Amino acid sequence: MPSTKVLLVALAAAVHSFDAVRAAEDPQITPAPTPTTPERRQVAGGSGTPILSTLHYAFTDLPYQVYPFQVLRGPQFGFNQCNSTTLGDNSNCQTLIFNSPDDFCLWGSPDANGLIGNVEAKVVAYCTKPYHGTRVIPPGSITGLQWMKTPGYIQVSGFIKNNGIGLDPTDQGGELDPHGADLQGNPLGGVVFSNGTTDSDGHTLTQVFNWNTFVGGNQFCFKACYNSITSPDYCENRYDLVGCTYNMPSAAKDGEFTSCEGDVQDVVGVYTTNGQSVLFAHVNEHS
Ligand SMILES: *[C@@H]1O[C@H](CO)[C@@H](O)[C@H](O)[C@H]1NC(C)=O
Ligand SMILES: *[C@@H]1O[C@H](CO)[C@@H](O)[C@H](O)[C@H]1NC(C)=O
Repeated sequence: MPSTKVLLVALAAAVHSFDAVRAAEDPQITPAPTPTTPERRQVAGGSGTPILSTLHYAFTDLPYQVYPFQVLRGPQFGFNQCNSTTLGDNSNCQTLIFNSPDDFCLWGSPDANGLIGNVEAKVVAYCTKPYHGTRVIPPGSITGLQWMKTPGYIQVSGFIKNNGIGLDPTDQGGELDPHGADLQGNPLGGVVFSNGTTDSDGHTLTQVFNWNTFVGGNQFCFKACYNSITSPDYCENRYDLVGCTYNMPSAAKDGEFTSCEGDVQDVVGVYTTNGQSVLFAHVNEHS
């Protein structure tokens, strides 16, 4: 069992090496897993290659696919108009609803026993309720969760059997967000809507522009940031090697389902010790 200090140093070293490969211009870019592939170095944003996170819709105006463009990794695998005709085990709906502790979805594999690393561009929505034209998470798959609403975002963290969202039982999982190395998002074309965020009137499904999530290793966490708060960016993703425990601290316990209001946490990468804010990455330099 490594000491806490050794563990922190190891984590900081991992963070450090990821920093080195990241495009310096935008800290939100998820490092490309295969930086030697020329195509993966290209970034959306030119004519005909929109940046996914800039595509904003009313729920009722969603096109069949928000990313039908055959550029870089496109077009998208599934679709965004999801309704009772698309409900079921084979649904490739890529519109994720994130309303409340008993009505939310997670991204999961469209293929049986998928590995997130292989299917990140084509993950589809798996929901707790059969209301959203998606696949449904089998009852009993989620064994505990904490739903936390804060002034900056809604976060859920919990425990789920990998196969409840199509993942191989051994998959330790990975991180997904609407940016990705090429800014086409993972899933490519995935959009998120909620009637629980402060951007909604409480009833209308309203798009969540910025979010991030980890799934796999029989755990999940998902953070939906409010559009009205752009700074600090509580959904910034820079540490996708270290998972839910580090990126979305929570009091989730297996076997317990809780819902609470919370304060916003420090932005990811900062933690507070002895009343002082410390930058996580600095642990490396002082040890
Ligand atoms: C239901 O979804 C299908 C498939 O995405 C779409 O073609 C159809 O127009 C939708 N129906 C309604 C009423 O929105
Ligand atoms: C939020 O949306 C869901 C369906 O997506 C609906 O069942 C629920 O009633 C809505 N909540 C409110 C408070 O309107």
